[in-house]
Amino acid sequence: MSVNMIHQLNQHKSIRKYTDQPIDRELLTSILEAGVRASNTGNMQMYSVIVTEDAKQKEALSPAHFNQPMVKNAPVVLTFCADFRRVHQWCKINDADASFDDLLWLMNATIDSMLVAQNVSVAAESEGLGLCYLGTTLYNAPQIIDTLELPKGVIPITTITLGWPDANPPLTDRLPMNAVVHFEKYEDNSDEDIRHLYFEKEAREDSNKFITENHKENLAQVYTDIRYKRADNAHFTKVLKETLIAQGFKL
Ligand SMILES: Cc1cc2nc3c(=O)[nH]c(=O)nc-3n(C[C@H](O)[C@H](O)[C@H](O)COP(=O)(O)O)c2cc1C
Repeated sequence: MSVNMIHQLNQHKSIRKYTDQPIDRELLTSILEAGVRASNTGNMQMYSVIVTEDAKQKEALSPAHFNQPMVKNAPVVLTFCADFRRVHQWCKINDADASFDDLLWLMNATIDSMLVAQNVSVAAESEGLGLCYLGTTLYNAPQIIDTLELPKGVIPITTITLGWPDANPPLTDRLPMNAVVHFEKYEDNSDEDIRHLYFEKEAREDSNKFITENHKENLAQVYTDIRYKRADNAHFTKVLKETLIAQGFKL
């Protein structure tokens, strides 16, 4: 990896506001081509990418993403899907007994989808484009399946909104490296280690703003009680499981 690539990766920031300028089809194609060069399980490419450029389709997708403004504001919305349908069909017409519809292959296809998405992201940023991932894809998969007419065997995994940046937010924080990297063996943390590792994050001005605004005692409670509540997690997990089964996954 060249120094420039490391520099680019270190400058990454999610961009949530875009100019009106469209993305040339030629540029989009080259970014998608760089995306699918990503490593993938068994080179079976168990994913599909749905490109949404049409304003009406973006409007239809918007509620599924809890109306996050990026969906309608971005010139391009990309939905990355785990897809065993195409491979199963290929196997079927070749009298091959495929079984890529189980949990193992859901995870493999999810990994493949995310690797393509991240390759697309890095390629897009190298061309000056900005992007934001949307985790709402997994929350509201049924609506996305309807809008994009995803057949059985295909499940949306993640979405990227893509466009020319109309914002330049500051870099977000990261935990210290020793919180996330272990050499040779996993080194478990004492409670004191954890306090130390999260100290800077908790001391940030924006963290304290979240805590005050939400009347919470600390940042962890903002995550558990406000952003990602237990009841919501349980609800969306139930919906996701049902959706996976309805789409033909054997879990
Ligand atoms: C899988 C995934 C889902 C995400 N979902 C959302 C989302 O729904 N809305 C949003 O504004 N940002 C979303 N993000 C962006 C994260 O909030 C962002 O990457 C994180 O806060 C770090 O900020 P940075 O990307 O600017 O470094 C998502 C990121 C990932 C990887």
